[in-house]
Amino acid sequence: MRFFHFHTPEQVPSSGIPACAVAIDVLRATTTIATALAAGAEAVQVFADLQPLQTTSQSWPASKRLLAGERGGKTVAGFDLGNSPREYTPERVRDKRIFMSTTNGTRTLQRLEGIPVLITAALVNLGAVVEFLRQGAFAEVWLVGAGWEGAFALEDTACAGAILHRLGCSEEQLGNDEAVAALALYQTWQDNLLSLLRRSSHGQRLLAISPESDSDLAYCAELDRLSVVPRQVQPGVLALAG
Ligand code: MLT
Repeated sequence: MRFFHFHTPEQVPSSGIPACAVAIDVLRATTTIATALAAGAEAVQVFADLQPLQTTSQSWPASKRLLAGERGGKTVAGFDLGNSPREYTPERVRDKRIFMSTTNGTRTLQRLEGIPVLITAALVNLGAVVEFLRQGAFAEVWLVGAGWEGAFALEDTACAGAILHRLGCSEEQLGNDEAVAALALYQTWQDNLLSLLRRSSHGQRLLAISPESDSDLAYCAELDRLSVVPRQVQPGVLALAG
């Protein structure tokens, strides 16, 4: 397996698609997607924009759907859920389809929609993702950070590095400079992941919105809490990998 890391969806090449891509938005979309599916949600259907989300969700029975929206770290007015993983309890989401749109994470998933095997990763499901990649033995894998509105995000690249570290990748398996840097970043911070999330610009943004966000950061920093791998089963629809 050869790994390429892209800091943002904007950096993803427009040709030469790989066998597998991993979308990463540690704060907080891919942490929340893993949490929702682990809590029994039927699926998470993602949208870059709010209008198509509202139109598509109307065709789903009201008792079986929840609308999840986040912009700038805050819940979208009128939506059932925001993007805090702590909101996604079994009582709230079991058997429901979550129609979700977030600032960067769902836009990243939409950008990668055409890749044959598309999964999501966060620190909370790191081990399960690593095992999935080991089993898949894909020739080429893209690890794509959601970033923040086109800019680098520390926590997404650290998570890409954590995947490379756990897989024990050799120099030859690191396909671009970004993958080399991701591994080095993770190795520097591996014992202080919560500090890294608190130091990151999006961590700072969430803490400025509410000091209670620190509980989200602690949750998002926890390695291997969940043993699930969200996988695209139809364009834009994520469910548990079988
Ligand atoms: C995003 O998609 O940009 C994030 O998940 C933002 C957030 O923390 O809710």
